[in-house]
Amino acid sequence: MTALGKLVKTTAFKLTLGYFLMFAVGAVVVLWFVGYNVKKLLDEENAQIIESEIVGLAEQYNTGGLERLVHVVERRAARPGASLYLVTTNAGEKLAGNVATLPPGVLDVPGIVETPYQRNDEVDPHHPALARIIVMPGGFRLLVGRDLDERERLRHVLRRALYTSLGLLAAIGTLGGLFVARRVLVRVDAINATALTIMNGDLGGRLPVSGTGDELDRLAQSLNAMLDRIGELMQGLREVSDNIAHDLRTPLTRLRNRAEEALRGSKSVDELNAALEKVIEESDGLIRVFNALLMIARAEAGDSRSTLAEFDLAEVARDVAELYEPTAEDAGQTILVTAPAHCTAFGSRELIGQALANLIDNALKYGGSTVEVIVSAKPGQVELGVADHGQGIASTDREKAIARFGRLEDSRSRPGFGLGLALCNAVAHLHQGSLQLADNHPGLCVTLNWPVSLAQLAPPHQAAAE
Ligand SMILES: Nc1ncnc2c1ncn2[C@@H]1O[C@H](COP(=O)(O)OP(=O)(O)OP(=O)(O)O)[C@@H](O)[C@H]1O
Ligand SMILES: [Mg+2]
Repeated sequence: MTALGKLVKTTAFKLTLGYFLMFAVGAVVVLWFVGYNVKKLLDEENAQIIESEIVGLAEQYNTGGLERLVHVVERRAARPGASLYLVTTNAGEKLAGNVATLPPGVLDVPGIVETPYQRNDEVDPHHPALARIIVMPGGFRLLVGRDLDERERLRHVLRRALYTSLGLLAAIGTLGGLFVARRVLVRVDAINATALTIMNGDLGGRLPVSGTGDELDRLAQSLNAMLDRIGELMQGLREVSDNIAHDLRTPLTRLRNRAEEALRGSKSVDELNAALEKVIEESDGLIRVFNALLMIARAEAGDSRSTLAEFDLAEVARDVAELYEPTAEDAGQTILVTAPAHCTAFGSRELIGQALANLIDNALKYGGSTVEVIVSAKPGQVELGVADHGQGIASTDREKAIARFGRLEDSRSRPGFGLGLALCNAVAHLHQGSLQLADNHPGLCVTLNWPVSLAQLAPPHQAAAE
């Protein structure tokens, strides 16, 4: 498409054209109205002058007859001015007056008429005139009229004003339209170019913002915010796939080696069974990892928002603690739950339960002999804490411990994939809350807190923007 073609198709240009047409119609209407009223006024004025002249002439005729009338008409006709007079016989023969010729038949019809005429001593036959014709006794005709040249000149001036204003409007409108359209077009082109580079894979590209705060700026800002968000999600996705590729290679290789070892050499049925059990155990571990990853992804994407509801956090704490009771007892550990009889919380019962299970699991794995689960209601929010008296996590390692597949050196010997705290963190974010790791002197105290009421939970897009 040519540059002009593109320009003509822009909204700004079409708008300008629309405005021009509107103004043009306005100008035509206004000037027509002025012209019409001026004509009406002048015609009325002329008709009045003619009437009063006729009254005067009638008086003269009444007192002195035709002879006097001819005499008076001759006198008045000799004066310069716009007044026209003519007295003729029945046969049309001129007796007096300053009108030389008239179109044929004009004098035959009495009354007011607009007609062209020719003045005495003039060659131009095109003077317009407004005249009144009176038929007198004996068939004599008297014409009293006014030259309309002045009126025509005024109309001519108005017509010229109309054409000039239309021309100016067209010129200013077209130039203005082209200027505005070009300005908008340049920016839209810039936005288009950036969009193309982004589509070609440069996700770091951002739409230009001129800083004027106009619609195009606001549009570019919204799209840039959207691109930022998409970038974050892509980054998250890349990290997850990197993590998966990196961290699951070891267990998968282990699984493969076990199966290979079982197949190699002559093994008894018992040995083969034992090997198979190990393989199943490893596979279960992998399935758990995938489940945990899936849960984290869902929590981060906010998928479970629709299932958020009110539940009793104290009850959840007691239930989960009870589940871990047998394991703790076997290891000589104790789980103490400190919670009010009821504690109403809002959120996903399932995810909060899973997060608590992860925290208790960690405390039993890495903590000392006593694990405390504390539920408390604070103004506007609820708090779920798990504390132990183990070695704790140094403040510099806390970020790493929360990251996906983040495991600290000391715990490499223990089973686990480093996804427990990552899920707790994702659950905290889903609930618009936070996960805090603190020193329990000695040991670790992990606290998960989030708003208690529905109203305080922001809708997903707002949460994402924060
Ligand atoms: N209560 C704790 N005391 C000391 N260190 C802890 C405690 N909880 C977690 N950690 C450290 O933080 C790391 C991350 O914990 P996380 O729960 O995310 O993973 P994991 O327990 O290793 O594996 P998974 O929970 O997936 O089975 C752990 O590997 C451990 O080093
Ligand atoms: Mg864990």
